[in-house]
Amino acid sequence: MKKFLKRTLLVLFIIASIYGVGRLGVVTYDSYVFVPREPYAVMQTQNSITVKWQSNEFEVGSLEYGFFSDALNKSIKDKKKTKKHSITISGLNECTKYYYKVNSDSLAIDNENRSFTTLCKNADSQKIWVIGDSGKSGKDQDRVYKQMLTQIDNDFSKLDMWVLLGDNAYTSGTQKQYNKNLFTPYKELVKRFVPWAIIGNHDARRWAFYNIWDFPTNGESGGEPSADERYYSIDNGNLHLVMLDSEMRRIDTNSDMAAWLRKDLSKNTKPWVVVALHTPPYTDGGHDSDSDYDSGGRMKKVRENLVPIFDEYGVDLVLSGHSHDYERSKLIVNHTGKSKSFNKQNIVQDAKSCYTKSIKPTKDSGTIYQVCGSSSKLDNADLKHPALPFAFQKMGSLMLDITPTTLSSKFISIDGKILDKFIIKKDKTSCEGIK
Ligand SMILES: [Fe+2]
Repeated sequence: MKKFLKRTLLVLFIIASIYGVGRLGVVTYDSYVFVPREPYAVMQTQNSITVKWQSNEFEVGSLEYGFFSDALNKSIKDKKKTKKHSITISGLNECTKYYYKVNSDSLAIDNENRSFTTLCKNADSQKIWVIGDSGKSGKDQDRVYKQMLTQIDNDFSKLDMWVLLGDNAYTSGTQKQYNKNLFTPYKELVKRFVPWAIIGNHDARRWAFYNIWDFPTNGESGGEPSADERYYSIDNGNLHLVMLDSEMRRIDTNSDMAAWLRKDLSKNTKPWVVVALHTPPYTDGGHDSDSDYDSGGRMKKVRENLVPIFDEYGVDLVLSGHSHDYERSKLIVNHTGKSKSFNKQNIVQDAKSCYTKSIKPTKDSGTIYQVCGSSSKLDNADLKHPALPFAFQKMGSLMLDITPTTLSSKFISIDGKILDKFIIKKDKTSCEGIK
């Protein structure tokens, strides 16, 4: 009997070892496999940009750029033969649109309408398209995308930024899945905008994620240097946009990310502060923020450890995905418990769609939480979280409009309806008359 048990354990151990080694092989292959990829821009700053692409063969590629599409009068070449190209252009003017094309002998590149714009010191207005859990290509992703295009009259020049809230390439964020679910379907956007993406739990091939993008670690795009690609901020016009990695093991109050976040927010001088992180502190959709175990307890950790920091610095808006639905709070504060503990004291302003705040972010002035994880997928959902009274089991995306004194957000559903919208005003005028 003892012998039988020993043998069984040995067999199980061998099976587990083979599975483990096999799994490691799959994960490594998914992350490191080479795929060809047309050019895209990363590391947008006020005076520089980096363009990356992957050619089929080792070669010296080149990039031409200029103020006009028919006069690309400057060019830069790779320093050596490579398949993974990365060219940084510096010395650019701030808040300026440049056209560019990329030359490759082994990769067919569509250079029509390729452009990038540097970040702005000031901006009268800016329009930001936000998608969450968008990484499943197909009919639904396409329809959500097309409804946004309809909103901007199919005129890309009306858009200023593009933000992705994680789970950008199902099912595990491999290099191939990124080509299929992001770079191909959003090709026309990729040709014109930096995809500012945060990581989701399905971007599980973390090496691939941080290889595809280069993120600022030294405050290059604004904000406090983070010395870590996983969290950083971007200043554009009147906006201070903070990008967090909620999928790390450590999101406690003493973590490096939380320490950096406090420092970054305390030094911010921009009137609008928006935080983007994949895992929401509040949701009653495909995921349940009341559960201590759902998503490895990360929703609870975000709520208990990061929400007090958002409160302390009066963050205006927190954007998340993860639950494949749409949910939105009023202006709320100081809620770190489960949904049943949410009460009137947590509501700073009880309005439906218009809120007022002072121009300078101040402690406990309230935050709006928006979950938009339905840009390509939908889950069954109860949508009964008391902090999130505006909720729809609908696919869609968000459009933010920011001026020096107003921030508005619309949820554009897959059928083109604006199912929810709100405005935060810092212009000292009242909300009277706004429904
Ligand atoms: Fe997720």
